[in-house]
Amino acid sequence: MSPSPKPAERTLHLAESNSTVLVFADADAASKAAADRIVRIIAQAVAARGKAILGLATGATPEKVYDDLAARVRDGGLSFRDVTTYNLDEYYPIQPLDALSYRTYMHRHLFSRVDLAPNRAHILDGTVPETFASEHAAQFDRWIDDDGGLDLQLLGIGRNGHIGFNEPLDLTVEAFAALPTRLVDLHPITKVDAVREFGSVDAVIPRALTMGVRQILGARTILMLATGPKKAAIVAEALKGPITAAVPASLLRTVADKVVWLLDEPAAAELG
Ligand code: PGA
Repeated sequence: MSPSPKPAERTLHLAESNSTVLVFADADAASKAAADRIVRIIAQAVAARGKAILGLATGATPEKVYDDLAARVRDGGLSFRDVTTYNLDEYYPIQPLDALSYRTYMHRHLFSRVDLAPNRAHILDGTVPETFASEHAAQFDRWIDDDGGLDLQLLGIGRNGHIGFNEPLDLTVEAFAALPTRLVDLHPITKVDAVREFGSVDAVIPRALTMGVRQILGARTILMLATGPKKAAIVAEALKGPITAAVPASLLRTVADKVVWLLDEPAAAELG
């Protein structure tokens, strides 16, 4: 990543949405802006409460954000000493050391490169027996609640609008917003998009543990990072279409004042 990418950009004001939508020239600049905001949130939370509680995401989109954060730690400008993390999701079942686990992803992209205490890096456990999955998920929610909730949730968006692995459902907005952390089935579009890692649709692990919508929407700041032309249609639907559980990311508009959308020009292309 270049050390000083171009600044933003343009700020979109959408009649349909109160959300802050910042558009950057390219994915590097959007990722740098996300990292800048994360650094600020860590500093503010540590100053206010002595700790920062971060909700983190996996996938292709945040890789550059983690590169940027790791570079700042290496250069001495950032520390994860007072940080606790909770990841959005994990495949189920999966071993933590499996090359395709999100535990492995986080280790590779962030945890091995920063001074985060291992016992403060929480990822849902893809090895719990199925009979214990709901208790494990409830415990994950209690840990976040006991930590005072998330200071930040970093999000990506699936092509079906999912946030974490909260896939589209036929539920009321209120019921969807209250969903706890739980075991879920992956949506067909999610499985197609996971072919990048798994090699074929049939090889994709079809279930996952996901942080619930309640916890995501409860974060004090939400950063939604979306880049590339494949996200343009769903970004426009989430920001301009109806608020509905059929488009999970549209629920971010129910808490619009604490959400910042960081887009590159290709992902913003259908916003007008
Ligand atoms: P991606 O995934 O970053 O790999 O596009 C985003 C998501 O599904 O949330």
